[in-house]
Amino acid sequence: MKIAVIGTGYVGLVSGTCFAEFGHEVTCVDKDATKVENLKAGIMPIYEPGLDTLVNRNVATGKLQFTTDLKSAMDGTEAVFIAVGTPSRRGDGHADLQYVFKAVEEVASYITTYTVVITKSTVPVGTGKKITEILSGLLDTSLFDVASNPEFLREGAAIEDFMRPNRVVVGTETDRARDVMKELYRPLFLNETPMVFTNRETAEVIKYAANAFLATKISFINEMADLCEKVGADVQQVSKGIGLDKRIGGKFLNAGPGYGGSCFPKDTRALIHTAEDYDVPMEIVRSVVTVNENRKQAMAQKIIDAAGGTVDGKKIAVLGLTFKPNTDDMRESPSLDIIPALQNAGASVHAHDPQGMEEAEKLLENVTYHQDPYDTMHDADILVLITEWNEFRALNMTRVKSLLKSPVVVDLRNIYGHADLPSLGFTYIGIGR
Ligand code: UDX
Repeated sequence: MKIAVIGTGYVGLVSGTCFAEFGHEVTCVDKDATKVENLKAGIMPIYEPGLDTLVNRNVATGKLQFTTDLKSAMDGTEAVFIAVGTPSRRGDGHADLQYVFKAVEEVASYITTYTVVITKSTVPVGTGKKITEILSGLLDTSLFDVASNPEFLREGAAIEDFMRPNRVVVGTETDRARDVMKELYRPLFLNETPMVFTNRETAEVIKYAANAFLATKISFINEMADLCEKVGADVQQVSKGIGLDKRIGGKFLNAGPGYGGSCFPKDTRALIHTAEDYDVPMEIVRSVVTVNENRKQAMAQKIIDAAGGTVDGKKIAVLGLTFKPNTDDMRESPSLDIIPALQNAGASVHAHDPQGMEEAEKLLENVTYHQDPYDTMHDADILVLITEWNEFRALNMTRVKSLLKSPVVVDLRNIYGHADLPSLGFTYIGIGR
């Protein structure tokens, strides 16, 4: 099947590449000519394990193409995916749909035979209906259907998540559109991946409900961690103890500095605003967001307390800046709140991240970056682990101790066992234990 994907961000690029891997003929379209030229030359705009190999392989076989020319991309296309950004709208937190609607209008001018227009971007419930209204004003209604096919991939595991998803969710209004969607996902059908075919509004709600539920698990366990710290309990054991109940499930119960990234913060905010529009209180998701916001400041205070009540004039070594490992993405990373709070309290911050430093430089001021993690630690008063990169799991702690001015480690991801570092003479502060 010939398909076009509009937008080569995380979702568009990974989806387009994986559809090519399924055997479809895919053209990815982006307005950014430099990005398109780079992709043609095998240079990826994002750091995602395994993506470059897959892109290059499919470009070589001709299954995957990149262009800025929407018209040529649309030629003979049966399905077009809208995978442009839906950022938080400045000022009110609603999802900003201007790029989606603009893409839809442009696509409309090149539709000449039946085409399914599919939203892959995370869009608030009702967007599919609005897109149908826009297209109906521009085209004969027999020429198109609008479907919702939300994407659940995680950064850092995107290829695996797309190729072997827990489920595929498709919202359509006609059998014809449903047949096209089935054909697109045929390899997964054959794999017996569960497919949830439903109406468009339901598919749109599923995406937000999934992200909000996962965010809820995180804020929930983070609050339990606070309680554990006060009463001498261990949150990791609590996660295990509750997670073994199959109704709860053990995943997404790692306490930490709060969730970040391009999805959870934006989507929880957008869900609250959508609910407001329909007079639904959405109290739980509101609390999830508040708990997460407060958490980042609380983490800065935790570090200050670990430093003896003040960081004024002190040097802090920070390992890990991205919102999670295996990505260079800094969007809404807890480090973006924690580091400025420490600086405002008078600290100087030295930091290392395996992939995130280039982005971090644009977003954080007055941080000294080091290519080697150990270089952050010379004469530092305290070492703080913010992101759980594998590189930080097996640091040479004897060397770390010899570098630090005082052997204090604040581990916001519980990378180390709570007895490991104290036995080496460190003061060790983890999360929720
Ligand atoms: C998320 C969803 O998982 C994915 O399905 C959706 O399509 C996009 O949003 P992503 O943002 O890539 O994916 O990251 P994810 O691995 O889900 O982590 C999100 C945040 O939650 C990170 O900041 C992570 O550190 C945090 N987290 C996750 C925790 O603090 N504890 C956990 O147990 C799990």
